[in-house]
Amino acid sequence: MCGISGIVGSADVTKRLYSCMLNLEYRGYDSCGMAVLADGQIDVRKNIGRVAEVFEKERFAELSGTIGIAHSRWATHGNPTKANSHPHTSCDGRIAVVHNGIIGNYQPLKDELIAAGHKFTSETDTEVLAHLLEHNYKACGNFERSVREAMERMEGTYAFAALSADHPDTFFCGRNRSPLIIGIGKDANFIGSDIVAFIEYTKKVAYLNDNEYAIVSKDGFEIKNASTGKPQARAIDTVAWDAEQAKKGGYPHFLLKEIYEQPNALREALEIDEKKIEAVADIMNEADRTYLIGCGTTFYAALLAQYYFKEFAGVYAPAVSSDEFPNLCGVDERTAVLAISQSGETFDTLEALRYAKRHGAKTIAIVNALGSSMTREVDFVIMQGAGPEKSVLSTKAMTSQITVLTRIALELSKRRGALPKTELNEISDGLLELGTIVRSVLDEQPGFIRRIANRVGHFNKWLYIGRSYHLPAALEAALKLKEVTYIPAEGMAGGFMKHGPISLVDEEMAVVVLMPPPENEALHRSTFNSVSEMRSRGGKMIGIHFDPWESVFDEQIVLPKVHKALAPIPQLVVGQLLAYFMAILLKRDPDNPRGLAKSVTVE
Ligand code: G6P
Repeated sequence: MCGISGIVGSADVTKRLYSCMLNLEYRGYDSCGMAVLADGQIDVRKNIGRVAEVFEKERFAELSGTIGIAHSRWATHGNPTKANSHPHTSCDGRIAVVHNGIIGNYQPLKDELIAAGHKFTSETDTEVLAHLLEHNYKACGNFERSVREAMERMEGTYAFAALSADHPDTFFCGRNRSPLIIGIGKDANFIGSDIVAFIEYTKKVAYLNDNEYAIVSKDGFEIKNASTGKPQARAIDTVAWDAEQAKKGGYPHFLLKEIYEQPNALREALEIDEKKIEAVADIMNEADRTYLIGCGTTFYAALLAQYYFKEFAGVYAPAVSSDEFPNLCGVDERTAVLAISQSGETFDTLEALRYAKRHGAKTIAIVNALGSSMTREVDFVIMQGAGPEKSVLSTKAMTSQITVLTRIALELSKRRGALPKTELNEISDGLLELGTIVRSVLDEQPGFIRRIANRVGHFNKWLYIGRSYHLPAALEAALKLKEVTYIPAEGMAGGFMKHGPISLVDEEMAVVVLMPPPENEALHRSTFNSVSEMRSRGGKMIGIHFDPWESVFDEQIVLPKVHKALAPIPQLVVGQLLAYFMAILLKRDPDNPRGLAKSVTVE
C-alpha cells in the first residue's frame, strides 16, 4: 500500500529520492517523508499531504547527503498524521525506518519494548521496528545481526528499509510478502517497492525474496537469508520498460494516458507467446475445475472471462472475488486457480493463491507488473506486457487481461472441440480487430462523451445495466464511476432489476445501458425490455450501443461494429472515458481518488 524507496550513491540523493517518491505516489498518498544521513546524523522530514506539497512544506531540498530512504504512505495503522508518517526513528534518533505492509504482532512487541524503556511517538506498527532495531543493536553492537533478529521476531507482511547513523555507507532492507526490488545503477544503488520508483536511473534490477534482507552500498548489494544469515546468489535482470513509458507522455493525467494506451496494450496481449496460452489451456483442460480470481477490476475481468469460458469452450470456470475465495471454494490437487492481477501484489489475491497452493492446487497468474510477488509464487505466469499502469483506476491492464483470457478460452475450446472452426476463427479475427476498434472509439468518441458528461453530470444516482457478457462490463463501468467521482453507482443485471432495484429508478436517476449488438437478437431483445421498464419510470436513459438506428435513449454513444461476443470491450472503454470526464467536470483527482490505493497489499 505504501511506497518505499532508498538510494545510496556518490552524489547528493535528495533530488532523486524525491523523484522516486513521486513515482511511487500511486501506492499511497496521505503523507510522506524522507530520511537522509550526513555527518553521522539522520535528518528526518515528513508530514501529511501529497509528495510535492510535503516537499515544499518541509523544505526537503535542504536535506543533503549520499544515502537516504523515503516513503509515501497510505494509512493502515494510525490515522494520517505527521507523527504517523514515515520514516520512524529510534529513541536516540540514530536509526530510521520506512515500512510497507503490516507487522501483525506489533502490539506484543510494542508492549515489550515499552516495558524495556522505549518511548513511542506514533500509533503505527512501523515504529516497533525502529525501536526493535535499537534494542537489538544496543544488545549486540552489530546492526546486521539486529536486522536479522528483528525479522525473526516480526510476523506479517512487510518490506522495510533501515538507516543507521553508525553505517553511513550502507542501508539495510528486508521483505516478507511485500514487494522490494533493488536497482543497480552506475553511480548509485536503489531500492523501491516497484521498479517505476527508480526506472529513470537504472533498468538493472535484483529481486529480494521473502524472508531475505539486503545490505546495499554504492558499490553493490548482498542478499542474505534472514533465518540462516547465509548469502543468497541473485541474478541481475534488465527490465524492458523505460522511464518515459512510466510518465504521463503529454496527457494531463495518467488515467487518460492509460486509456489511450489500450490499442498498444491489446496488441501486446495478442503477441504473448502462443505456447504460454497453450500451457494454461492445458492446465485448465486437465483440471477438474478452474477458479478465476481477482479483486475489484480484475474480479470483473474474471467475471467476463467466465462467460467466455462457458460460451467458447463449454467450461464452467467460476469467477470468485479473491477475498472470499478461501471462505467459499474448496480446492485440491485436481483444481486449478487462475489469478488476475495488474500489480501482482494484491494481498487478497496472494492469500487466495497461497491457500490454493497449500491444498495442492495448480496456480496460474496473469500479471502486469514485472518482478511482483505473484510472478514468483505461482506455478505458471503469463506477463501481460501492458506497460506500467500508474493511475489508481485500472484501464489498459483490464482490457489486456480480457484479451489474454479470451485467447485462453479459444485455446481451451480447441482442446474440447466446443465450437466449429469457423466460429472459432470469427472470434479470433474479432480479437485481432479489437485494437483498431478501440483506437477508433478513442479517436472519435471522447468529445461526444465529454459533452454527454456535461449534460448528465448533475445526476447523483447512477445505474449501469447489462445482461450476459455485458453484465461484467456494466459492473466495471459503475466501479469506474464510483471510484473516481464518489457518486453512488451500481452495476446490475438487466434481469435482476425487476426483483427490487427498479424501485430506485425515477427522474433523478441516470441509467446507462450496455446494449448488445442487434445481431445478438435474443440478448438485444431482453436488454431492450429492461430499457423500456426503466424508461417508463422516468430514468435518464444513456445507451452505449451498436445500432445507428436506435432512438430510445436520451443520450447515446454509438460504437463501431465488433464481434458480438467482444462487444463489451469497446463499451468498457466508453465507461472509462465517461468516468474520466465526469471526474474532470466534478473537479476530482482522476489519478488519485480519495482513500484508494493502486495496489492493496494489506488485508
Ligand atoms: C485495488 C485497486 C483496483 C484494482 C484492485 C486489484 O482495489 O483500487 O483498481 O482493480 O486493487 O488490483 P490488482 O493489482 O490485483 O489488479
